[in-house]
Amino acid sequence: MTDSSVTIRDARPGDAPAIARVHVRSWRTTYPGLIPAAFLVGLSESAAAARWEAIVRSRGPGRGALVATMGAEVVGFASYGAHRVPVADLAGEFYALYLLDEAQGRGIGRRLLGAMAERLLEAGTRSAAVWCLRDNPARWFYERLGGTRMAERPIRFAGRQLIEIGYGWRDLAPLARLSAGPEVG
Ligand SMILES: CC(C)(COP(=O)(O)OP(=O)(O)OC[C@H]1O[C@@H](n2cnc3c(N)ncnc32)[C@H](O)[C@@H]1OP(=O)(O)O)[C@@H](O)C(=O)NCCC(=O)NCCS
Repeated sequence: MTDSSVTIRDARPGDAPAIARVHVRSWRTTYPGLIPAAFLVGLSESAAAARWEAIVRSRGPGRGALVATMGAEVVGFASYGAHRVPVADLAGEFYALYLLDEAQGRGIGRRLLGAMAERLLEAGTRSAAVWCLRDNPARWFYERLGGTRMAERPIRFAGRQLIEIGYGWRDLAPLARLSAGPEVG
């Protein structure tokens, strides 16, 4: 289902506190049982806001952050750029994609992923990857949207040993066509 009241746009520095709020709330609903509770309890919106403001201000061709808004409220965000942890020879990376619980399951994640693909393609980045915890059911979302399981790696996070799966898209063009919603393309 596509929600026509949702807008996807490039993030502005003034969005940083709202992005941080979604970040902290979404981590606390997504990661219990996966990431230690003490880490989730210790997340700070003000610290996250400062980091997000810096990320948003450093936007350039092929790297940046997006927000999904319903009315005036930011309900989701995404960030992307050049690959940080390589998956095969894929050039770009989707760094983050998080929605509030109540905004999930309405096609907003699909539109944000599509919009990131569109931004990367506009900058000449034709392929990308995403790293997702193996035990996060969100990875089925990436499989649903055509991501190919291409890599696996152990990581140590907040004192816990975890496994991440790397999904890849060798051609971002089909994904970019999703940015307007599933009825397009
Ligand atoms: C993962 C996330 C971004 C997906 O966004 P969303 O708006 O809920 O997903 P959409 O409604 O756009 O779903 C697109 C398709 O993926 C499917 N899908 C979404 N989440 C899924 C899941 N957990 N398992 C299986 N399929 C899923 C949907 O059913 C839909 O399929 P369709 O083509 O048949 O309609 C969102 O659920 C979220 O923010 N989750 C918590 C945070 C998180 O884990 N982020 C990823 C970190 S790597």
